[in-house]
Amino acid sequence: MVERNDTEASIRTNFLPFALPSIDEEEIAEVVDSLRSGWITTGPKVKRFEADFAQYVGCDHAIAVSSCTAALHIALAALGIGPGDEVIVPTLTFCSTANVVVHLGAKPVLVDVGSDFNVRSDDMERAITPRTRAIVPVHFSGQACDLTTIYEVARQYHLAVVADAAHAIGTEYEGLKLGDAYFTQKCGLKKHAVCFSFYATKNMTTGEGGMIATSDDDLAERMRLLSLHGMSRDAWKRYTGSGSWYYEILAAGYKDNMTDVQAALGIHQLKKLDGFIATRARYAKIYSQAFALLPEIATPQVTPGHRHAWHLYVIQLNLDQIQIDRAQFIQDLRVRNIGTSVHFIPVHLHPYYQETFGYRRGDFKEAEKLYDRMVSLPLYPGMTEDDVHDVIRAVEDVVGLNRR
Ligand SMILES: Cc1ncc(COP(=O)(O)O)c(C=O)c1O
Repeated sequence: MVERNDTEASIRTNFLPFALPSIDEEEIAEVVDSLRSGWITTGPKVKRFEADFAQYVGCDHAIAVSSCTAALHIALAALGIGPGDEVIVPTLTFCSTANVVVHLGAKPVLVDVGSDFNVRSDDMERAITPRTRAIVPVHFSGQACDLTTIYEVARQYHLAVVADAAHAIGTEYEGLKLGDAYFTQKCGLKKHAVCFSFYATKNMTTGEGGMIATSDDDLAERMRLLSLHGMSRDAWKRYTGSGSWYYEILAAGYKDNMTDVQAALGIHQLKKLDGFIATRARYAKIYSQAFALLPEIATPQVTPGHRHAWHLYVIQLNLDQIQIDRAQFIQDLRVRNIGTSVHFIPVHLHPYYQETFGYRRGDFKEAEKLYDRMVSLPLYPGMTEDDVHDVIRAVEDVVGLNRR
């Protein structure tokens, strides 16, 4: 039991989790329909979800898979990335962005990020060697990276781009969704895939799940093949009236397909996504207006002109203005019944990456500075506006008690 004094206890009586999915009766009914239909693995609902998603994003092909990690892995594998190759990845990301490169026997080359948490084209360009095959921009928190300059680097050095858009379903760059076919074509990108996550905390969820968007026909075909054992096209149809028992294995593929039970959730979540993002954006604005009055807190930097999907709301503590560190700040919010998280422990600070690739603290100054000060606050459509104000009051209380 955490001990709480009267002021702390007065902010909230029940715990506000850091994240919760918004699942309604439509999703539940659709899942039940899948269960009753007998199609519980990949089937017609996955096809429908892929078509809906492709239309939403504006891409030619959407391939549903079991996670964003699987999506990144399949995309890089389909591009032929393997031993001897290097793939450039920002250090401020979830481990799987880099892990998948290791799975393929290639080397993840980590780079720093800017003060808005996103990777910069010049840092990527400096890390390019003759072995570099692909770059992986991560659209951190749902804010698009500076794609014009990043795509220019990719084009100039003939590199593939596999975007990690785990946070960025619904994000727009120059008015177009990430993965939009027109934008890719305009930028002259040849090999390009965008990977999304439907993990439980994401802007829309299928429990676990992911999607790869591309407008490259050959790459799409290869990724689809790899996502289900390397089986010849439409293998799932072999269980329908029009299908046959026969299939051929054309590549040593993976078992990364999405199920109809997951797609049943996704079909309805996608319809609500824009509404979810609007609520997230509204709550983010309330936070930013309130925290602008606190010199101890820096609010997230937003690049105007693009649609932020507001997957995360990440504040930074001005540590020279308060007497506690980030760990104590998180604990003090916990005592006030507010859940938080940290996104992310930079990849180069993890023991595996230090021991295997020789990375050390000090290698990426900006990511480390951000990491030491960052806290992700609750931000999801299932919160009420009162919840948002509870978070603000709790932050104000902790900051007020610890001013230098
Ligand atoms: C930036 C980033 N990339 C990739 C992933 C992996 O997503 P998934 O859990 O769908 O595999 C996550 C998950 O949190 C993430 O935050």
